[in-house]
Amino acid sequence: MHTQYLDASQPKDLETAARLLKKGGLVAIPTETVYGLAANALDANAVEKIFAAKGRPMDNPLIVHIGALSQLSSLVREIPEAAQKCAQAFWPGPLTMILPKADCIPPPVSAGLSTVAIRFPANPAACALIRLAGVPLAAPSANTSGRPSPTTAQHVLRDLNGKIDAVCDGGPCGVGLESTVLSLTGQTPRLLRPGGVTLEQLRSVLGTVSMDPAVLNPLGDGEKAASPGMKYKHYSPQANVIILKGDLCAFANYVNAHCEDGVAALCYTGEESRLKVPAVCYGKKEDPSEQAQRLFEALRSLDEMNARVVYARCPKPEGMGLAVYNRLIRAAGFEVRELG
Ligand code: TXA
Ligand code: MG
Repeated sequence: MHTQYLDASQPKDLETAARLLKKGGLVAIPTETVYGLAANALDANAVEKIFAAKGRPMDNPLIVHIGALSQLSSLVREIPEAAQKCAQAFWPGPLTMILPKADCIPPPVSAGLSTVAIRFPANPAACALIRLAGVPLAAPSANTSGRPSPTTAQHVLRDLNGKIDAVCDGGPCGVGLESTVLSLTGQTPRLLRPGGVTLEQLRSVLGTVSMDPAVLNPLGDGEKAASPGMKYKHYSPQANVIILKGDLCAFANYVNAHCEDGVAALCYTGEESRLKVPAVCYGKKEDPSEQAQRLFEALRSLDEMNARVVYARCPKPEGMGLAVYNRLIRAAGFEVRELG
């Protein structure tokens, strides 16, 4: 299949993308978080093609994207008060809400669950495209399953060229990590995946919000994931990533004592000069939003360097840093070493 390259700033290219989507095609679209691989959410055949193109397990449900708040009510069975508050405070934006699903959602979208994930993205091209297509769009991140999520159209093409109908280039994503996933189906709102809307922000609007244990810890044997996506080893570059917990001095000592061929470092801006191995920076130490924006690109460039082992600086799991930490511990398969 030939993958068309479209420019999100060109109205005629957006129309082409909308036409492909209406016909049941797959189009990678820019959002403010990461690029999504979109299909008509109400067309089960189109949605099944997403799973095939990504190599995604069928038991991992998709997020349905809307382009106007008025689309929400037809997709869910009820809108609890907490959802109304969150929609008002954080939509359009990087927040996904899990709600009881309406019957029009075909089974592959929700992987057979009774709930559905809904997000109203802030990216203007994404919203325009949803409106032009006239249907909500199911879209997971537009990467091959297991690889770091794409934050540019070039990342999308590296994984999916020839497997999808088109990619719509809207430039690099601003947030850089996937949306916050919040379940509103139980007694207490529950954070399933941290992202661009922080836990602190959610609590300021909703009061009590619990955090699913899978945000920070691996699932135990036989444990069921509240968010199926959290059970997979994710965001992995080919290298074996190991997080080192400690200050810069301890980090540099450890890395420099292990400077063999194929060893690389993932560090904060300005720290490279302390290291005797090739290093990739992912933002300033005190700026978790910059770390979020650059993390996936950094993981991809470590692959391009053919790094075999990557020692990574440990993000502080607070505010936006919680999302950065959540992605990096998955990239590391939960391997964290405390430096004494
Ligand atoms: O920022 C984002 O959320 C991006 C852009 C494209 O919008 N999308 C994205 O989709 O990250 P994906 O498929 O890579 O991640 C969706 C996550 C998965 O962890 C999935 O298991 C979870 O949301 N999810 C989807 N539906 C769910 C449901 N009904 N209940 C619990 N978790 C759900
Ligand atoms: Mg994903």
